[in-house]
Amino acid sequence: MKVVDLRSDTFTKPNPEMWDMLKSLDNSRIGDDVFGEDPSVNELEEKAAKIIGKEAAVYITSGTQGNLVSLLAHTNRGEEIVVEEQCHIYQNELSSATKIAGLKVNLYSSNRGAPSIDELQKIIENDREKENPITLLCSENTHNYHGGAIIKSEILRDIKQFAEKNGLKLHLDGARVFNAAVGLGVNVTEITKHVDSVMFCLSKGLSCPVGSLVAGPKSFISEVRKYRKMVGGGMRQAGVIASFGLVALEPKWIQRLKEDHINAKILAEGIESFNIPIKILNPDTNILIISVPEGIRIGKVVRTLGNEGILAFNIDKHRIRFVTHYGINEDDIQYSIKKIGTVLKKLL
Ligand SMILES: Cc1ncc(COP(=O)(O)O)c(C=O)c1O
Repeated sequence: MKVVDLRSDTFTKPNPEMWDMLKSLDNSRIGDDVFGEDPSVNELEEKAAKIIGKEAAVYITSGTQGNLVSLLAHTNRGEEIVVEEQCHIYQNELSSATKIAGLKVNLYSSNRGAPSIDELQKIIENDREKENPITLLCSENTHNYHGGAIIKSEILRDIKQFAEKNGLKLHLDGARVFNAAVGLGVNVTEITKHVDSVMFCLSKGLSCPVGSLVAGPKSFISEVRKYRKMVGGGMRQAGVIASFGLVALEPKWIQRLKEDHINAKILAEGIESFNIPIKILNPDTNILIISVPEGIRIGKVVRTLGNEGILAFNIDKHRIRFVTHYGINEDDIQYSIKKIGTVLKKLL
């Protein structure tokens, strides 16, 4: 049976140029990265810092670890941070901000990831009465659980102005920041120039098997390196995996993300044409979220889709996520639309 895996862009497999790059590796291209002696990792970090528009960058095992070490480097134990209520840091990182970094986490609501400055102001004002200072604000762009929503550069600029006025640093969970840039048709620096630090993943739409980067000012990145070691993220001949990232960051592979965005739109339009009682969150990028009516057992919907070879992910009791990515072409999308139509018409 044909299977189309739309659960996440983390299921993406490496592109052929990555395998060619790996074949060309030899011992002269790897070294002990904990000593800063892996030429491939060093090259990747320099390349990433340049592309993302920051002084320095550091290679990290995963996006989750990248966010954690960024929080650790920006804050002190007992301080407070403010994050969006549906963000990955709060929803999916197993309370590491609290358990490991010793931080209290405040939440703001948002319009698909974009906060209201008035609400942020209220949070800060309430906090002034308390002992623990708020020192860090976080944003997520694109925003996963708001359907790959893009937070526009002007909005980030306003958030940054607010943060500066209140003495806060701004960290961006930019796991998919290149999707945001490609979606807006701007250079990624138009987004990252408004944040103090950014984490982005190589292992999602950029198709690498593993790895993320954290970028920011040099002094901040040296702190991040220490925390990376502390949480066990110091790798040795990491050039073996980091070299995939050198390919991923070539303009051609960044621009390829557009295909995923087009496929997500085709998928959304296809599902919309069925006229069934679901809500579709229009995809800005590569993530499509649909909501099914109350009373429908979402587990059954996802299981039935799976039995038909269409793998999707139920975010919660009402929402199903479909993610387009490298390896899924338009034919797969048309095939998926037919199968999804059959299942939804039967179950809704
Ligand atoms: C927005 C966001 N941030 C961070 C992460 C964590 O990345 P990783 O799976 O590499 O830990 C993810 C993973 O899906 C994500 O969607």
